[in-house]
Amino acid sequence: LARGPAGRDLAGRHVVVSAGGTREPIDPVRFIGNRSSGLQGYALARTAVARGARVTLVSANVALPDPAGARIVPVGSAEEMHKAVLAAAGDADAVVMAAAVADFRPAGYRGTKIKKTEGAEPEPIRLTKNPDILAELGRTRRPGQVVVGFAAETDNALENGRAKLARKGCDLLVVNEVGENLTFGRPDNEAVILGADGSQTEVPRGAKEDLAEVVWDLVAARLGAPQA
Ligand code: CTP
Ligand code: CA
Repeated sequence: LARGPAGRDLAGRHVVVSAGGTREPIDPVRFIGNRSSGLQGYALARTAVARGARVTLVSANVALPDPAGARIVPVGSAEEMHKAVLAAAGDADAVVMAAAVADFRPAGYRGTKIKKTEGAEPEPIRLTKNPDILAELGRTRRPGQVVVGFAAETDNALENGRAKLARKGCDLLVVNEVGENLTFGRPDNEAVILGADGSQTEVPRGAKEDLAEVVWDLVAARLGAPQA
């Protein structure tokens, strides 16, 4: 695919990338989290900057250096990410949800640390649903805005991926097989990228940068000619 002058095929574009994993507070010292390292989202942000985009990186709980040239919006929980992504998406040409967003959060946040009580069983932690950011982006986007999701699947990856793509109303879904040291915290990744147009792009195991470049190739193709 052509990348325009000096490969800057995203020049003049605003892209929003979410990265990392949300943390859902239980009490002031504890949370429910996940294994996302943020490496894939950060690779997406770096490569988009290199291709000329204005980049907003909504970053949840990562221990990685800030990518030069991106605007970083740090968030903690899924609700914070929801607010930040929707706000940034207003004028975005593309939104890529690489973050691992918790599906549920503890229903009753405790303002004080939960203590153990001698001889008593612990209270169960009740959960409630978080907003589905990607599905909302799929529903509310402007015409022409490209929406990309990631799907973490442990089994029937392609079948589940197709159903998820339709359910979320996104243009592209990057399907990752997760578990057993396949993705989380590794510098490399492999994926199949499903398109709402029925396309299927296989990306062999390689650097997370390489997968990021393929994602931007597919996004750029959907955005049309590079802007001057
Ligand atoms: N996602 C989101 N908001 C949520 C949950 C997920 O925006 N509350 C996004 C993720 O960032 C990812 C995509 O949705 O881009 C798919 O996430 P995944 O966990 O694979 O899908 P779910 O719809 O949550 O389905 P499940 O976990 O049940 O497989
Ligand atoms: Ca989920």
